[in-house]
Parts: sequence; structure tokens; C-alpha cells
Amino acid sequence: MAAAVRGVAQSGHVGGVGVSVPPDVTIDAQSLTPFVDALPLPERLRPVGANRYRVAMKQRVNKLHRDVPLTRVWSYGAGAAPPLIEARKGEAISVEWVNALPATPLISHDGFMVMDDHAGDAPNRTVTHLHGAHVEREDDGYPEDWFAPGRSRVSHYANAQDATALWFHDHAMGVNRFNIYAGLMGMYLLRDEVENALELPRGKYELPLMLYDRTLTKAGQLYYPNMAQTGDDEDEFYGDAMVVNGKIQPYCEVEARRYRLRLFNTANARTFPLRFGNEMPFQMIGSDQGLLAAPVATTRFDLAPGERADVVVDFSECRGERVELQGDGFALMQFRVARERAARNPALPARLREVARMDEKSAVRTRFMTLAEYGDDMVMLLNGKHWHEPVTEIVKAGSTEIWELANLTDDMHPIHLHTVRFQVLDRQWMNVPKYFAEKRVEFTGPVTPPLTWEMGWKDVVQCPPRTLTRIIVPFAAKPGMYVWHCHVLEHEANDMMRPFEVIA
Ligand code: C2O
Ligand code: CU
Repeated sequence: MAAAVRGVAQSGHVGGVGVSVPPDVTIDAQSLTPFVDALPLPERLRPVGANRYRVAMKQRVNKLHRDVPLTRVWSYGAGAAPPLIEARKGEAISVEWVNALPATPLISHDGFMVMDDHAGDAPNRTVTHLHGAHVEREDDGYPEDWFAPGRSRVSHYANAQDATALWFHDHAMGVNRFNIYAGLMGMYLLRDEVENALELPRGKYELPLMLYDRTLTKAGQLYYPNMAQTGDDEDEFYGDAMVVNGKIQPYCEVEARRYRLRLFNTANARTFPLRFGNEMPFQMIGSDQGLLAAPVATTRFDLAPGERADVVVDFSECRGERVELQGDGFALMQFRVARERAARNPALPARLREVARMDEKSAVRTRFMTLAEYGDDMVMLLNGKHWHEPVTEIVKAGSTEIWELANLTDDMHPIHLHTVRFQVLDRQWMNVPKYFAEKRVEFTGPVTPPLTWEMGWKDVVQCPPRTLTRIIVPFAAKPGMYVWHCHVLEHEANDMMRPFEVIA
């Protein structure tokens, strides 16, 4: 079945087979001088009326690095950095998302992922999803709700959820991996009274940082492998240029005091194991869906595609130094710490907010679901089902379920559910050959609790290889069809996305 699907998709691209990338097409981004551009801060998008925004997606040019020519990108904003919307809990807003893109794609769509079957639909289609927002079906950016250049769609965001860092990005069927790669991403910081009452670094001491990787051609344009260039598609995209807020390896001058870093992994596929070059400890204060109960100290953690982390770092520990933020063997950016002590450096509160851990007994149903690859062509499916097959996850609005995500592959998959928040229960290694042979789960290791910074509310969960990861999900959502998927965008396009339906 899976092989047949691949065959169909491939037949349209026969001309590209066997052509490989000339080695001189791309630049070696690691040979660029790092830390020569200042970190851009996001432009704040302003309402055009009472709680009304109008955000146009346009093709623009961006200076990614001092020594790289101007790069054509797609953007929701005017500046280099992805733009920012700041919202307050309890104040609903609406956004008219306007597709003002040109008719020709920026990135070649010559791929053969399962979802490339949709390639004939308006190539520059878009639909915006506010990742992590609790919304109604119509406002969620359902992949099939895409619209072509010249059209727009209004989404309503109730902002009736706890303060956190959400982000918006494209979700158009079959092309979101290209659209996000081109730059269709933005930040959305939701504030509330709980957060405001805490003395956390704010204003210029709060830095929102979107982390992603790209590959550039010699002409400084975005390079994404495709059939015509490589004769093959990529199962996952990994670039060699590390980009933060629209600049390759920028630097940022900071005072010798505490800063709050709002980190977003917006890469197509790369997980960033994050640490500072000097191994300095820092405090994790929040995850995808808001603040943790209390700060958790660590020196490193993994941030997977789609995930956010709220981190407080005290630069007074390294006055006068230059400290790199590093991930996955790369320097992402550099902090240049002032020599003088800052006038004020308030300590972190010991308690952040109430996070009640959910009781497993509150679940009315447990679903066992597989994450697996099929055939030698890496079609990846949730629960053995393709996107277009009838919905199988039908949940009652307001009910709580446990989802057991059995990852039968050798890759980590960051799984995201739309419109809800959840908690991670635990993980346990499983015997995968045995499961394939007998469809029976045999565990091969102890139950491991969530990591300390995973004890809050989440909307993406890292599912490690050969492991059963359990989450508990209160489906506090309005009836309708939503999606759940792997946030590795190439996996998602290879059919690692399924609908789930909330019924009244
Ligand atoms: Cu961040 Cu369905 O996505
Ligand atoms: Cu995946």
C-alpha cells in the first residue's frame, strides 16, 4: 500500500531521477565568520482596529549574514526576524491572514512525499496555524483550509488560556515544509496576570529567539533539496547555516544580569540539544503551554521542532565574557556580557504557578497508537493510517484520554496535537521486533518519569525511538476536526499526520 502510494507520487517526477546536486551549488555556511551581525529583535505587529490584525504574507529580501548576498524569503513581517504578536489572556483578537505571495514558488516543489500529490493545487497556497492556541475548528488553520495568492482568511483567537509562547506558521496541505522553510513563521506571546505578578525579566531583558537551520546557494538563496537537484527527496531537512531571528549566528550584547529567553525551535527537522559554551547552569521556567510550577536548574536540554522553552539565564555569572548558545554541535549565537555589574538583578521567584498533575484515573479511554515506517521508502504513518483515510480518533469534548504513542522507528518524533494541552505521563522502552512479530508490547526497561522540565503543560511531546511515550490529554475543545502530527515537517509531509475529531 505504502509502496504503491510512493510509486504514484514518483511517476510525476521521473525527469528528475538520477540528477545530483553539483557540489558547488551551496555554500559552506560553517566557513562564514560567526557573530558579525547583531541579533534582530522581532517587529511587533500592531492591530489595525480594536483587537483586529491584518497580516500579509509577502516575498521579501533578507540580509541573513554580512557576507551573504540578499536572500529572497517569505515573511509575515517587514523585518529580518519573524514578527511578534503580543496578546493578553481574556482579550480575544482576530487576524486576517492575507496571502500576498507571488504566483511562483520560492522553493521547488519537486518532491515525492506522499502529500506532494496535492502539488497541482495552487502552488503558493497557505493557511496559518497558531501553534498551541486553543481554538475552534474554523480558526485552526486546518491543512485543507488553504487559500491561494490574492485571498485571505480571518481567524479568531480567544486567548482564553494560560500565558505562554505560541507561534504561528503555515500549515497548507503538502507545502508547509516549503512555506515554513521560506520563512512563514512568527511569534505570539500571550500574557496573563499570573505571569505579570511574578518578577521575571521583562522588556529588553526578555529575548524571543527563533532557532532554525537553512542551506544557502552560492547566490545566497534558500536551498532545499529536490528531485531535480538531487534525484532524491530528503527524509529530513538539515541545513548547515544556524539562524536565529533571521540572522546566521548573530551576537547580542547583554547586561550582566538575568535574562528571560523565549526559545522556539522552528526548524524543519533539527532538534537542538541546547547548552551554553561555558556549561553555565540556567533555569527552565516554562514549556510549550506555560510556566512550570517552579524553576528547574539544568545545564542542557533538547528542544525539538515545534517545542518552546522559557529559560532564565543569569549573565552576572560571566561578566565580560563572550558566551555561545550552542546546539547540535553548532554555535547558534553569541552573548557579549557587559563587564560592569547591572544595577538590578532580581532573583527568580521560587514558585511560578500552580500546575496540578493529572490523575490517570480521570481518563475515560486509553488509545494505543503506533508511529512507524512502511516500505523502504520511508512512508511514515500514525497508527498505520494515511492522512486521507477516515478519522479514527474520535473523542468526546471535555473528556480525558491517555494516548500511548509507540514509536517503532529509530528516530525521535516530536508529536503535536492541535488545540489542546496535555501532560507527559511516562516513557518505557519496548521490544520492537517482538511487537512486529506478535503485536504484543513487551517492555525492556523501567518506566521513566517525564524530565523535570516536562512536568508542566505541553503541546509537543518527544517520542524517543523504540519507546512507548504516554500522555494524558483533557480534550477541552469545541467539536470539529483537528490534526495531530509529527512536527518534523518532512515526516508530516510523508503522511505522519492524521485528523482527530472532537464530538459533542
Ligand atoms: Cu506547529 Cu500542526 O503545527
Ligand atoms: Cu517524525
